[in-house]
Amino acid sequence: MSDFKEKIVLVTGGSRGIGKAIAESLADAGATVIVTYKNAIDESYFNSKNIKHFKCDVADLKSVQEVVDSIVKEFTKIDVLVNNAGITKDGLLMRMSEEDWDVVLDTNLKGVFNMTKAVTRSMMSKRYGKVINITSIVGIMGNAGQANYVASKAGVIGFTKSVAKELASRNININAIAPGFIETEMTGKLSEEVKQNYLNSIPLKKFGTGQDIANAVKFLASDESAYITGQTICVDGGIVMQ
Ligand SMILES: NC(=O)c1ccc[n+]([C@@H]2O[C@H](COP(=O)([O-])OP(=O)(O)OC[C@H]3O[C@@H](n4cnc5c(N)ncnc54)[C@H](O)[C@@H]3O)[C@@H](O)[C@H]2O)c1
Repeated sequence: MSDFKEKIVLVTGGSRGIGKAIAESLADAGATVIVTYKNAIDESYFNSKNIKHFKCDVADLKSVQEVVDSIVKEFTKIDVLVNNAGITKDGLLMRMSEEDWDVVLDTNLKGVFNMTKAVTRSMMSKRYGKVINITSIVGIMGNAGQANYVASKAGVIGFTKSVAKELASRNININAIAPGFIETEMTGKLSEEVKQNYLNSIPLKKFGTGQDIANAVKFLASDESAYITGQTICVDGGIVMQ
């Protein structure tokens, strides 16, 4: 696969879970990797892996612009952006507060808009870029109790298609990855019963790992995926078959 040695990769929400696995995998492949995070981060761990880290709330446009400007100033470019940061605030529609709707949409969908707009400006001037948005299979299938999350993830899929059309002429590919059930802290809070129900619906009969998602990200970040744009690839053990 392509050489990532000259590549500068930015991963949002890279402090743990899927984002951390993506950051480590691309750093191991030779890329210079920068992660952004919202809350605390184990700085010594990321320093030991030679992964740079910047505090940045993706929902805050001003913070995003400042961080992207300083990354481009320091590293001269960003070749790959992975929009991974995301949250859940689950509940049935009748019990869902406006606050829970807003914070999920602001993080998962507006965050992708904020980051993509800021980063692709510099990609356009270099006439090269790969944007990979982490959505979810529930953005395709729907899921009771997650109207806010599902709306945000379906929004990311539509956003990916539209921006792929806008930026194709600038040699910028933008694709999405839809994970199924991946074992992270986000899914760790679900009950055993809910997990067992998910497991029963997975053809490959096992949960995914952060590495499974990182493998797909690495392909979309590589030059081997040059003829793919606007797509959503499900990495879900076969739940969604399109
Ligand atoms: N775990 C799964 O099964 C699963 C399935 C489908 C999609 N996803 C998606 O994958 C992505 C990563 O999920 P995960 O399971 O690793 O979750 P996680 O909760 O373990 O990690 C989420 C990361 O996003 C960061 N983050 C949250 N809000 C942020 C903000 N406003 N600004 C910057 N960073 C912020 C967190 O600090 C953390 O690093 C999310 O977009 C999630 O929706 C996960």
